[in-house]
Amino acid sequence: MSPVAADWIMATRHSFICANAADFLPQIQRESVDLILTSPPYPMVAMWDDLFQKLDPAISLDTTDEALDAFAKMHAWLYGIWQSCWQCLKSGGHLVINIGDATRSINQNFQLYSNHSRILQDCLQIGFQNLPNIIWRKQTNAPNKFMGSGMLPPGAYVTLEHEYILILRKGPRRTFTDSASRTLRRESGYFWEERNSWFSDIWDFKGVRQDLTGKPGRDRSAAYPLELAYRLISMFSLKQDLVLDPFGGTCTTTRAAIAAERNSISIELDPQLQDSSRQSALQFRETGNAYIQSRLKRHANFVENRQQSGKKLKYFNELHDTPVMTRQECDLCLREIREIEPDQDAFSIQVEYTAAGQVRAD
Ligand SMILES: C[S@@+](CC[C@H](N)C(=O)[O-])C[C@H]1O[C@@H](n2cnc3c(N)ncnc32)[C@H](O)[C@@H]1O
Repeated sequence: MSPVAADWIMATRHSFICANAADFLPQIQRESVDLILTSPPYPMVAMWDDLFQKLDPAISLDTTDEALDAFAKMHAWLYGIWQSCWQCLKSGGHLVINIGDATRSINQNFQLYSNHSRILQDCLQIGFQNLPNIIWRKQTNAPNKFMGSGMLPPGAYVTLEHEYILILRKGPRRTFTDSASRTLRRESGYFWEERNSWFSDIWDFKGVRQDLTGKPGRDRSAAYPLELAYRLISMFSLKQDLVLDPFGGTCTTTRAAIAAERNSISIELDPQLQDSSRQSALQFRETGNAYIQSRLKRHANFVENRQQSGKKLKYFNELHDTPVMTRQECDLCLREIREIEPDQDAFSIQVEYTAAGQVRAD
């Protein structure tokens, strides 16, 4: 076990910036961010039309030609964001984008607008390296999910029930040369069985409730699940790293960063959403700790099942008092959230964690 993974208290800081990401990103120090995890407004999805038209008043969707042009213009606006992301990221840092394609009829002309391929093409042009992507399967039971000519061929359309998680890297793999970063890396490990499901290319879990009714502003959040953000943060960054979300929304990325002991910056254009998201982050302690506990419980179940089927686990993690499959899991360390408090400035919060070795699966 590493001598550093002892009883010193970890703390992280989370900033909530209310701004247009296009204006704020260039103000972030160059090469200061380890991971950008985000989901932008989706081009050609009707709920984002007004917003894109505000961001670029030249966008119009009245005719088929204008719609094709609108698709290009919406992506031209996003291109500036991906360029700024490149500037903020450290070498070896990742840009992870959740995006769905759009289907739409303009003037009775039905078409697929392939957002994911357009963003990939743009990011490759900027210089990012394309890594294996994830398909997030989000099945829907909506009775009206099938489109087109019903039971008569050939005019029916396949239903879109998946989104993409694009994984891009700036430059070569990150290296860990000093002992402090190597220790943090070992503490940031995940369990063998988590690796087996997290690093598969199809994720199959439901979306989250997106209802914002009763709150000021629009009526749907377009939020992704905490599980999605937590996994991606755990997979592509280390504890104490800085995670940035330029399209913060309900701050799912921030809450996942809190639970995963990373620092974060969330940028959101809508001041009311930003304010309520900051409040929910301040009240996240119990939910965050329940999530951390559930990870350990899942591991305890895995151990029990494996031992019952007569298979061995060769290694032991003393911090969590549990057998593990590989040597790499021996220093894995999960801390619970001890306190979440507003910072002195109005737009940040501070999080303190329990000392290492205090969290056990009950
Ligand atoms: C797809 S949602 C992201 C949802 C988020 N991942 C979550 O889990 O809640 C996109 C968010 O970007 C925000 N947004 C749109 N344009 C923006 C801009 N120019 N700058 C900052 N935020 C923007 C929207 O208000 C919306 O909340």
